[in-house]
Amino acid sequence: MFISSTEEFKIPPNWVYRGEGNCNVVLSLPNERKILRIRKTKRTTSLLSWLLNWITDILYWYCGNALNEELRDLTFYKKIIRPLIGINFVCDAEQVFLSRKQIKVLEDELAHQRPGYRKNKSLQYGRAALFDDYALLPDEFYPFPLSNNTYAIEIKPKQGWIPFSEKHLPKCTFCLNQYVKKENGQINSISSYCPVDLFSGEPSRMVSALKALIDSPQNNFKVFKNGELYYGENCEIELFKNFIAEFFRTERETYETLVREFCVLVKQCLLTNFATIEKTNNCNMKLFCEWNKIIQENSFQTKLPKGCVLERILSVQMLDVEGNQYYYKLLAKKKLGEYDYVKELVKEVSRRPGTCLKCIVMMLGNIDEKIMRENHLVLVPYLISAIAKDCSLMLTFKKVMEVNSDNYGMKNVISTKFGDYVVNVGVFDLYPKPVSTILKHRKKMKKILETWAKNEA
Ligand SMILES: Nc1ncnc2c1ncn2[C@@H]1O[C@H](COP(=O)(O)OP(=O)(O)O)[C@@H](O)[C@H]1O
Ligand SMILES: [Mg+2]
Ligand SMILES: [Zn+2]
Ligand SMILES: [Zn+2]
Repeated sequence: MFISSTEEFKIPPNWVYRGEGNCNVVLSLPNERKILRIRKTKRTTSLLSWLLNWITDILYWYCGNALNEELRDLTFYKKIIRPLIGINFVCDAEQVFLSRKQIKVLEDELAHQRPGYRKNKSLQYGRAALFDDYALLPDEFYPFPLSNNTYAIEIKPKQGWIPFSEKHLPKCTFCLNQYVKKENGQINSISSYCPVDLFSGEPSRMVSALKALIDSPQNNFKVFKNGELYYGENCEIELFKNFIAEFFRTERETYETLVREFCVLVKQCLLTNFATIEKTNNCNMKLFCEWNKIIQENSFQTKLPKGCVLERILSVQMLDVEGNQYYYKLLAKKKLGEYDYVKELVKEVSRRPGTCLKCIVMMLGNIDEKIMRENHLVLVPYLISAIAKDCSLMLTFKKVMEVNSDNYGMKNVISTKFGDYVVNVGVFDLYPKPVSTILKHRKKMKKILETWAKNEA
């Protein structure tokens, strides 16, 4: 692939550090209502590897490679994962180029803002893209006045779908992993959040899952006010109490009443189909389509309404029917490039107009035993599902400042006992994962089961 422009992106001077996960640092650009997402790389520790890096770094081809990798991931994002989750929940994105000097300046300026435990990785040169900032509402016209403040709730829901080979386990992966985190000293207490409850679509189970997230946010729950972190991991619950009184603009109600109403509001947003255009399904294969229908009709594992954000995420998780063990065996001792499957998948999809993406992905996992072993596209259902098990979503709110309007039939206005809210929903953190993810998950599963056995004994 060819990069058309290596013109340096002018970073607006009023950028703000938003946060980071394991793989990317995110800056917000307030005037543009965009975020700049920059890939991280392992910080080199030995002098030799540092020297090697430095030498390869100054050669142009290194930057060319990085730019191509970003383009590969962005193409996958636009052509595969964005339509899989739903284009109304996932924004378009744009690749940008940051020079070596810009990266260096950012590194220095970020040094005192990034959390210590994340600094084992540094910013990577040549890999950046712009996305919509979901912590702010899209700049649209509303026929009524809105609050100045914008509040956003970030949820990393994790795995709500249990593949068949994991059905016999005592708890879901998230719940079991809590014991590992406790043993590692990453957390002080076990969270009672369970993704299976959140994805169940049953209101009372969803509300208790949300309450558990508030009480124990870990890295699964955050609150932002005007793009700034307000509440999250290692914050006092007092902060959440302040937030919720501010959010509902009331001081008279008890905390319990407010939390309940808040969880009901969030649940409602997670269950609403916000799509403005309903797509008719005229897929010519009906492999996943039929299977999904059976699951839905029998309320098997979940009762999520079609088209809501959780259903969109769960349906992508469901592409992994078999579970890790099965894909680990297929992986065998094949030597595969970590991301070789990405470009091939994009090609495969463009060759099959008229078939829905989920059916294509499922079909790729089902091809003949004999050719299966030579073809690494057979790993695709697992690798795509893994993205949906690890992505995040954001709900963004502004309060409607005028009571009794006729416009409340609008799809993205949700009512509560304490007023109405305009809401937007976005899903992000959707870049492709390397093939070695299969191995990583296998090791994690082993550790989880060992720790569980120890705790049970
Ligand atoms: N489009 C977005 N809008 C608003 N905030 C975002 C967006 N993308 C990322 N963020 C923020 O930046 C953090 C890290 O981004 P993420 O894409 O999850 O990185 P990683 O791949 O390292 O997990 C997120 O937890 C979220 O708070
Ligand atoms: Mg993340
Ligand atoms: Zn669970
Ligand atoms: Zn289909």
